[in-house]
Amino acid sequence: MNSKKNYNIAIVGLGNIGSEVYKHLVKNKRTIEINTNSSFQIKYISAKRINKKRGFTIPKKMWVKNPLSLVKKDDVDIIIELIGGSDGVAKELVFAALKNNKHVVTANKALIFKHGNELVKIAENNSVNLLFEASVGGGIPIIKSIKESLVGNKLFHIYGILNGTTNFILTEIEKTKKSFKENLLNAQKLGYAETNPKLDLNGDDVKSKISILSALCFKTKIINKKFLTEGIEQIDLEDVEYAQKFNYKIKLLGISEITDNKIKQRVHACLIPKDSDLAKINGANNAIMVEGNPIGKIVYQGLGAGKGPTTSSIVSDLNSILKGNITLPFGFNFADAKEFKMFDFNNHICKFYLRIVVKDKSGVLSKITSVLSKYKISIQSILQQPLQNNKYANLVIITHNSKEKDMQSALMKISKEKFISKKITMIRIRNEKKL
Ligand SMILES: NC(=O)c1ccc[n+]([C@@H]2O[C@H](COP(=O)([O-])OP(=O)(O)OC[C@H]3O[C@@H](n4cnc5c(N)ncnc54)[C@H](OP(=O)(O)O)[C@@H]3O)[C@@H](O)[C@H]2O)c1
Repeated sequence: MNSKKNYNIAIVGLGNIGSEVYKHLVKNKRTIEINTNSSFQIKYISAKRINKKRGFTIPKKMWVKNPLSLVKKDDVDIIIELIGGSDGVAKELVFAALKNNKHVVTANKALIFKHGNELVKIAENNSVNLLFEASVGGGIPIIKSIKESLVGNKLFHIYGILNGTTNFILTEIEKTKKSFKENLLNAQKLGYAETNPKLDLNGDDVKSKISILSALCFKTKIINKKFLTEGIEQIDLEDVEYAQKFNYKIKLLGISEITDNKIKQRVHACLIPKDSDLAKINGANNAIMVEGNPIGKIVYQGLGAGKGPTTSSIVSDLNSILKGNITLPFGFNFADAKEFKMFDFNNHICKFYLRIVVKDKSGVLSKITSVLSKYKISIQSILQQPLQNNKYANLVIITHNSKEKDMQSALMKISKEKFISKKITMIRIRNEKKL
């Protein structure tokens, strides 16, 4: 064995994750050094407020006021960025660190999603590591698995439940039979949802994650332009209950696949058969399915966030660097990134679930069915249920396979009718099979 190399580490950001990483590295220093045949010191720490009470002590000499000064220090080899955000200090720090030949470990999906395509080039040119296992799926080792363990495969499909907050809320709606609003408040109280949960609820968080995974799977650039991204804000208890009646569960999925040499990537809620594997993933758990040749289908499952799982991934990345590895950030040489066109989602075909709140009077149903049939949308099942005051009714429709474009046109037309009293809820149905 070669002689041991020594590494100096700076941790920037000492919030939920940074604090846990610091404590873990202090506590497990010896074990990590044995495992990696290296030695390391946490040399510097930086956060916004030096005087904030953190429940543990950090030697004063470690503190650095301006994190950007770290990139010029000769006694820093690795920077662990745990500030967050796609821009601002996190962006400046990571760009400058890589340019100054420092290895970077980050949990920042927003940053990798928005700037990953530029960052990877700098890391490759300077032969330093840019590792981001913790940016997707918390403690699930999905990124290393795609880059290394599945390298012998041609992967063509990756999808799954990538946001613990929304999965927790959907699971709780079903369990408690309470509204979306009540369950969101409860999720915030329990710490499963942030005070501002917008990015979780509107699908943006999953958008970043599926884009990162898709680039690694299909050996292409991160797609950070617009693609279909919807959240779960339009879903309520009634939808969860109707879905159950039709033997489905509702899940928010990130999905990316190669079809006819095009990338078909999207984020939206789906009705999936209630006996499918993904339907059984409850609470704050994540599950990711990967399909390829020759492996077939493989599933990864675990807690998708939280300080324990996230620290596990960060320490795994750190271990790789401490072992002396220099790996390609995306698992392939970025100059060889494949170019794919985007699939036009208007041509997507699936069954649809519609819940239309209508005035309960004659002629309404026939008007709706005639518009659907004008757009070649045929109905598989229909259910009409009066609402409390009997003036309105829920009309729930499951269609046969139809084209996205036709569905959007039909919905636009139906929405204009005077008998429609609320925005129509439309959820795509996915024919998810058991493993
Ligand atoms: N929380 C999770 O479960 C989870 C899971 C996976 C990935 N992540 C990712 O991990 C990263 C950190 O998340 P977190 O939950 O730990 O966030 P957090 O609790 O809000 O912590 C952010 C930290 O950044 C520091 N900070 C803010 N502005 C700064 C600046 N200008 N200079 C230096 N430090 C600054 C803050 O300092 P003060 O402490 O002084 O305020 C704080 O310590 C994010 O990228 C997030 O997406 C989080």
